[in-house]
Amino acid sequence: MEVMRQCNANPGRGGYKMSLEAGRRLLSVRQQVSDLFGGPSVDHVVFCQNVTMALNMAIHGLVRKGDHVLISSMEHNAVYRPVTHLAEQGLITVSVIPADNRGVTDPQDIRKLIRPQTRLMVVSHASNVCGTIFPLREAAAIAREQGVTVVVDTAQTAGVLPLDMETDGIDVLAFTGHKHLLGPTGTGGFVINDQTAQRMRPLLQGGTGSVSHLATQPEFLPDKFECGTMNTVGLAGLGAGIQYLNETGVDNERRREQRLTQRLLEGLADLPRLILYGPRSVEHRTGTIAFNVEGIDNGELCYVLDEAFSIMGRPGLHCSPLGHQTLGTLPEGTMRFSVGTTTTDEEVDYVLASMQEIVETMD
Ligand SMILES: Cc1ncc(COP(=O)(O)O)c(C=O)c1O
Repeated sequence: MEVMRQCNANPGRGGYKMSLEAGRRLLSVRQQVSDLFGGPSVDHVVFCQNVTMALNMAIHGLVRKGDHVLISSMEHNAVYRPVTHLAEQGLITVSVIPADNRGVTDPQDIRKLIRPQTRLMVVSHASNVCGTIFPLREAAAIAREQGVTVVVDTAQTAGVLPLDMETDGIDVLAFTGHKHLLGPTGTGGFVINDQTAQRMRPLLQGGTGSVSHLATQPEFLPDKFECGTMNTVGLAGLGAGIQYLNETGVDNERRREQRLTQRLLEGLADLPRLILYGPRSVEHRTGTIAFNVEGIDNGELCYVLDEAFSIMGRPGLHCSPLGHQTLGTLPEGTMRFSVGTTTTDEEVDYVLASMQEIVETMD
């Protein structure tokens, strides 16, 4: 509301106070994002509409004909579809890093997959189906040792797991605003290191207010990759979300998430006919929990949870055919619950009591 009232103008275009203030607001959110992820500088933060867009920009901008790309076994279609599209056009080849039926990867397996043509490793930091955390630091070190650029989808972890581009070995960190970063929908982007930014081609062109006399896209950051008017009001909301996180502390968020996830997992595991997917240890997972109840269709379960108990879950396939294949949950998928920033112990207990009632009465 404050931004809409005080500086609802185009950042980086006009020369009047409101426009300059909009530009300042954006700059301060860039700083927050850069600090949160240990980025090289504010200029290396590129905003766009969501992580899918950011990943498409990185993948299309970095691969060249003949390249080989590695992806994890748990990829969201935000990665799986763009790489499949490029592979179907004969431009690249793709290998999937293996994982066991909990989605757990041994990073040493990556060594066997790297070839001289391997340009990129694109991995999700945690599975959006069952919460399994990818061994990012070890995997990135192996990839980078062989000159492979590391692109990470942090949709499931930014704001709840600590991330640092330097120590985690990330070249492009793609993020979305609307999950643990507590921003509005339609906000996201990527943070990129300088070396990678120089090699990466912009997927989109035009619409910027800088170097207006040129027919071509500016070479400097972030303008090289930011096209058209930014979502200033949404990004200001993202800034407010990050400010809240900074006050709470990502480590505290993680501890709280682990405690509630443990409570939910233990309670669910006690229910008859309930099958849990993914690792049981909260060290190796996030608060995203996938399960099925034998004899109950997960779509019907979701409907009953919502209608009778006002509990919001998600049934079926979760945009990750690879993930479901790995877990052995194709074609029916799973029911999914998630522990979020505002979830309380009482809510977890209410979910468990409701599930108990459903499992006893539905068949
Ligand atoms: C791991 C992962 N990648 C990508 C996405 C897509 O996110 P967005 O809608 O912000 O592009 C999601 C969430 O839906 C996700 O969980």
